[in-house]
Amino acid sequence: MADTDSIPETKDFHLDKPQTADIFPLKGCHNLDWGMKNRLAHIFSPKSGRTVMLAVDHGYFMGPTSGLERIDVTINPLLAYADTLMCTRGILRSVTPATFNKGVVLRASGGPSILKELSDEQIAVSMEDAIRLNVAAVAVQVFVGGEFESRSIHNMTQLVDAGNRFGVPVLGVTAVGKELARDAKYMRLATRICAELGATYVKTYFVSEGFETVAASCPVPIVIAGGKKMPEAEALNMAYQAVDQGAAGVDMGRNIFQSDAPTAMIQAVRKVVHENMPPKEAYEYYRSLKAGS
Ligand code: 5RP
Repeated sequence: MADTDSIPETKDFHLDKPQTADIFPLKGCHNLDWGMKNRLAHIFSPKSGRTVMLAVDHGYFMGPTSGLERIDVTINPLLAYADTLMCTRGILRSVTPATFNKGVVLRASGGPSILKELSDEQIAVSMEDAIRLNVAAVAVQVFVGGEFESRSIHNMTQLVDAGNRFGVPVLGVTAVGKELARDAKYMRLATRICAELGATYVKTYFVSEGFETVAASCPVPIVIAGGKKMPEAEALNMAYQAVDQGAAGVDMGRNIFQSDAPTAMIQAVRKVVHENMPPKEAYEYYRSLKAGS
């Protein structure tokens, strides 16, 4: 029988203090359930409200992309500097250390390779397996204007329903086809459709004119993809402009892992995203880390 004699009588009820009610800091996410918010807190820094997601999922349609030939060799050393890893379940199970305890955003759609029509994707992961892998969110490609537009949107809404059932956020990834204009008008359309149909947050591309209207008209957080490799100074400038105009961070791949100095680059991106470091200063920071490595 438990010894209850030594338990002191509770008497400090702090009657003068109302119970705290923390405001969840992410745009449009205050009405989500606790588990969903807790998972988002493994993606977005509670301090800055932003994230540096390291995207290495390109192999799901591109095969062994330059810089990702050996993820164990080139990417694992960068994990210490990422807030979140975005990858496929194949890479997660085969080469990602299970000691990685930050958020994982799992690629959950796929099908066609670069040799075929890319918008012809299907859901490629069950919510059960995503939960088994303890992921922070799942990501699904949405091809607004693509040949299989409706199917890709249906893929997303199916994952949203399953995610809502189990408390798993869904990242809607707006994919831009070769034939579609990458302008603010298109990005507003694509991001807003994702948010309206239930994406917890949305990934899109930065546009140099009017990006602030894309961020403003999307009621949930937006992160930007890095896109094709560009000079480091330009990539840092793009990241700065994006967060300055309302993005909640980056989901950057090639501009980090194809950089001359990936470890220096990801640290410079962190300075921009989390500390608003101006791009020129961030580039100098990148150069100094590169010189010292
Ligand atoms: C592929 C993706 C990538 O994760 C995304 O494009 C980010 O990588 P990058 O910065 O190299 O563009 O969603 O479809």
